[in-house]
Amino acid sequence: MGEGIAVIGSGYVGTVVAACLAHVGHRVIGVERDPEKLGQLQAGFAPFREPGLDDLLARALEAGSLYFTDDFSKAMDGSDVVFVCVGTPPGPDGHPDMGAMSEVAERIAANLRHHHVIVTKSTVPIGTGRWLRSQIQECRGFEDEHQPLFSVVSNPEFLREGRAVEDYLHPDRIVLGSDAPEALYRVAQVYAPIIEQRIPGDLEHRPPVPVLQTDLATGEMTKYASNAFLATKISFINEIARLCDFVGADVSAVAAGMGLDSRIGRRFLDAGLGWGGSCFGKDLSALVGTAVEFGYRPALLQAAIEVNENQRQLVVDELLRQLRSLRGARIGVLGLAFKAGTDDTRDSPAVDIAERLANRGAFVTAYDPMVKLSQGSAVRLVSDPYVAARAADAIVIATDWPEFLDLDLRRLREVMAGDLIFDGRNLFDSDRVRAAGFRHLAIGRPAQGADKPAPVAFMPVPESV
Ligand code: UDX
Repeated sequence: MGEGIAVIGSGYVGTVVAACLAHVGHRVIGVERDPEKLGQLQAGFAPFREPGLDDLLARALEAGSLYFTDDFSKAMDGSDVVFVCVGTPPGPDGHPDMGAMSEVAERIAANLRHHHVIVTKSTVPIGTGRWLRSQIQECRGFEDEHQPLFSVVSNPEFLREGRAVEDYLHPDRIVLGSDAPEALYRVAQVYAPIIEQRIPGDLEHRPPVPVLQTDLATGEMTKYASNAFLATKISFINEIARLCDFVGADVSAVAAGMGLDSRIGRRFLDAGLGWGGSCFGKDLSALVGTAVEFGYRPALLQAAIEVNENQRQLVVDELLRQLRSLRGARIGVLGLAFKAGTDDTRDSPAVDIAERLANRGAFVTAYDPMVKLSQGSAVRLVSDPYVAARAADAIVIATDWPEFLDLDLRRLREVMAGDLIFDGRNLFDSDRVRAAGFRHLAIGRPAQGADKPAPVAFMPVPESV
């Protein structure tokens, strides 16, 4: 009977979970059935780029605390806790596709030979934990109904791309949802080194991580609610940015002012082209879907999605207004990733905007520091930002890459035909851009005159008399 951990699925979450749990002292078996991915993982390389991950993988493989296999049955025999990390991509109807999950349920059912705690890590529709339990019972023909050979725990993952290892090893909280107290206890044991922040090689003294223990549905809902809140927070500031444009206020300063209220906080108040990535859009749609199933119209969630959608169109409309026509216009798009620090373009506002511009007849040339794969034939991808700007009527800053701040703006302006920069991520200081000869359009930051004070200025405290 195994006491190790099996991690099913070596996508983003699965690979991070496997490497990190091995790093904190567990024996981990990663299961991956795609032969190409498996070979890569066995050689110590993650199938995607994530700071620190290859290093953890290589070290754990060398130490023998982690290995990858396609042998499901062996992984089950060598473990008593199984983390299910398979993908739940949106299906054609917008609902998450549970195909991979169903298959895993069947394979778990076929390979239960001693008691296992099944932990769902994938973001799954609320009720999946219960569904998984029924599905496994069904497959086993209810043979062990009175002494079940498994329990299900929901343990949502909150890691961000680009910070996945850091987020997993030093989370803000750990959520464990189950209707079986012993199962909660076993998973809490697995997390003990992380809860107590005893991370090998980490010399910083950090407080213990809070653990929230709940029932299954509450665990699942906590993940959706967190992502929906963050996405709504971004849509909120984007709506305020629109109003700032009308009244001549500066949204960066507004966000700074709001963020100083400890009840609000400054994070996730960056106005821009809106959110993208593999989680926010999918999770919000799934949550809306759940509400609708119950006959409830989730007005706030729908509005958050609508505002986000509008942000993507905003740049197209504004360029149309500025350039009169997009047909034949040359536009350089700087950034294609859904955020800085990743080559991920899933549901990326940048890609969507580049395509919208191309669909309106513009010639779009894009550059991204990490994205190296062409995003369809309509958008030409180049490997130099100045080439992307060559003969352009306008350029759009579409991803918040900090390296864009190091661009030689005068050179950029010289290679362009026009003088318009649409700073869709509010990256640049307006004065600096205008000094290089540009017209600067940004989100919620009306063009500033040279005589205006800096948008965010904290006054020195006057000395008391
Ligand atoms: C998100 C959640 O943060 C994470 O907890 C969850 O596990 C997965 O989804 P991630 O998709 O990696 O993580 O990206 P995140 O850093 O949250 O950014 C999401 C999107 O919001 C990006 O497109 C980003 O550019 C945008 N964003 C973020 C803003 O537009 N403004 C902000 O202030 C913050």
